[in-house]
Amino acid sequence: ARDAWLRTPLAPGEMITAQSALLEREAQESSTTDEELAGRRAANGSSERGGAASTPDYGEKKLPQALIIGVKKGGTRALLEAIRVHPDVRAVGVEPHFFDRNYEKGLEWYRNVMPKTLDGQVTMEKTPSYFVTNEAPKRIHAMAKDIKLIVVVRNPVTRAISDYTQTLSKKPEIPTFEVLAFKNRTLGLIDASWSAIRIGIYALHLENWLQYFPLSQILFVSGERLIVDPAGEMAKVQDFLGLKRVVTEKHFYFNKTKGFPCLKKPEDSGAPRCLGKSKGRTHPHIDPDVIHRLQKFYRPFNMMFYQMTGQDFQWEREEGDK
Ligand code: A3P
Repeated sequence: ARDAWLRTPLAPGEMITAQSALLEREAQESSTTDEELAGRRAANGSSERGGAASTPDYGEKKLPQALIIGVKKGGTRALLEAIRVHPDVRAVGVEPHFFDRNYEKGLEWYRNVMPKTLDGQVTMEKTPSYFVTNEAPKRIHAMAKDIKLIVVVRNPVTRAISDYTQTLSKKPEIPTFEVLAFKNRTLGLIDASWSAIRIGIYALHLENWLQYFPLSQILFVSGERLIVDPAGEMAKVQDFLGLKRVVTEKHFYFNKTKGFPCLKKPEDSGAPRCLGKSKGRTHPHIDPDVIHRLQKFYRPFNMMFYQMTGQDFQWEREEGDK
């Protein structure tokens, strides 16, 4: 009886659940934590699936035509959950980490991870570490040179603190942010090799991508705007993907308890969908001098980034954290 059960082919939905379970196990250091996925499942009232809760699994699996490549703690989960509300988008919920950790598994493995799509539907995934992976642009270009890339960027100082807060939640014994941020605090020497700081040198990483992709193929979403005006940022995302503007103000409401926008309850069923508690954590208090020092450190890189992208993200106007 056990063997018979093993030989029974999985239904499409079950297959995705099985793959997701596998991916979850593999995504050790991913920003998609089990906690977050569990929260989302609970919020959705549904099992882990490839796309919007009401979309059945029809069609065939395709390699993605669009990727959310970064940045970690930029608001990548919020963006993915909002865009997958669109009926013409099918996205994998977990982070496949194909172009960094799983590349040797091959393109067929990658395609198999994707949800099924119908003609005209866009297949997507998000893995924020791609943005800072040296080999990623070359590998992605080799797969599809016309792919669309999306990067959610956020004030690098706030991003660093958010990143640190995430690590702290898993390893409470780590040194303070103030200690980790400096190579030599007396000399004011920032430790740019600390990943929480290095990831925020956006200009440096972007240079690598521009060796392979024209700027027109990359959309930069403001992580700050995604919170204060999610519909506005989603309009840009849908235009960029060549989709009708289906996800609009109607889909969001500001949840006071969460302190963030959440997705409204779908018409048919289910609860409203806020992200899990690993998104929107309370940051620890950081010494304002350290914040100012970091802002000074990032300023030239931010300017370079604004110049490269032709967008002013206004991070210089903020008074530090949040
Ligand atoms: P904090 O937890 O530091 O507030 P990512 O999904 O890339 O890891 O990004 C996490 C960040 O997304 C959160 O960082 C939060 O600020 C931001 N965010 C943007 N929109 C959000 C939303 N609707 N709900 C929760 N967090 C959101």
